[in-house]
Amino acid sequence: MTSETKKPEFWETAFTEKQEMWGFEPAKSAVVAKDLFIQHSIKQVLIPGIGYGRNAQVFRDAGMTVTGIEISQTAIDMARKHYGTDTTIYHGSVTDMPFDARQYDGIFCYALLHLLGSAEREKVIQDCYKQLSENGYMVFTAISKTAPTYGKGKYVSKDRYEILDGVTLYFYDKESIEAEFGNAGLVEVTEVEENFPFFLITCKKVAAQTRGQ
Ligand SMILES: C[S@@+](CC[C@H](N)C(=O)[O-])C[C@H]1O[C@@H](n2cnc3c(N)ncnc32)[C@H](O)[C@@H]1O
Repeated sequence: MTSETKKPEFWETAFTEKQEMWGFEPAKSAVVAKDLFIQHSIKQVLIPGIGYGRNAQVFRDAGMTVTGIEISQTAIDMARKHYGTDTTIYHGSVTDMPFDARQYDGIFCYALLHLLGSAEREKVIQDCYKQLSENGYMVFTAISKTAPTYGKGKYVSKDRYEILDGVTLYFYDKESIEAEFGNAGLVEVTEVEENFPFFLITCKKVAAQTRGQ
């Protein structure tokens, strides 16, 4: 079995054994994204890899409607238990997006993209961009090559290492962010210290006439 196919099992086991492993406080990046979304009057937020919902709550508290995508049914059950049942959470892999035909004016994706392989990352970025409405913003966080775990574990491909059985991480730098998000409305890259050094990657979908289409 490849590491790709082991991932659903990995997350099921992790949530079953460790339950609310990151607590109930939102990540710093979620608060930054929420402030950006408020500034731009964003109302409909998609969260791929929503986990058990700790980051979703800051957006809901600010009056936004949240929709999630999550591979672990255990995490979805925990989200329902803690935050209620009025949020749509699609059970499946982000690599199978889209799950609906809706447009979102905000997308927030925390610590998920770097778990995927190159073709999967490209598809997820483009699928998110397609579901972003004009003038909408999407914010991704992903691990940086400055993390102490960079280069540890089993080498898979350039900047990609299997650090645990079933968890492979792709480590970003500014060049790889530009290469992967250049076609997806990249507007800003900043650094944020979460449990690891992360990049906060902000993209905006400009209106078609501004893009000259
Ligand atoms: C590092 S965790 C971050 C969770 C959440 N964003 C948080 O911080 O509370 C990654 C999340 O993405 C989910 N996940 C991993 N691979 C996925 C995939 N291919 N499709 C959808 N969700 C996935 C995991 O189950 C987990 O909830």
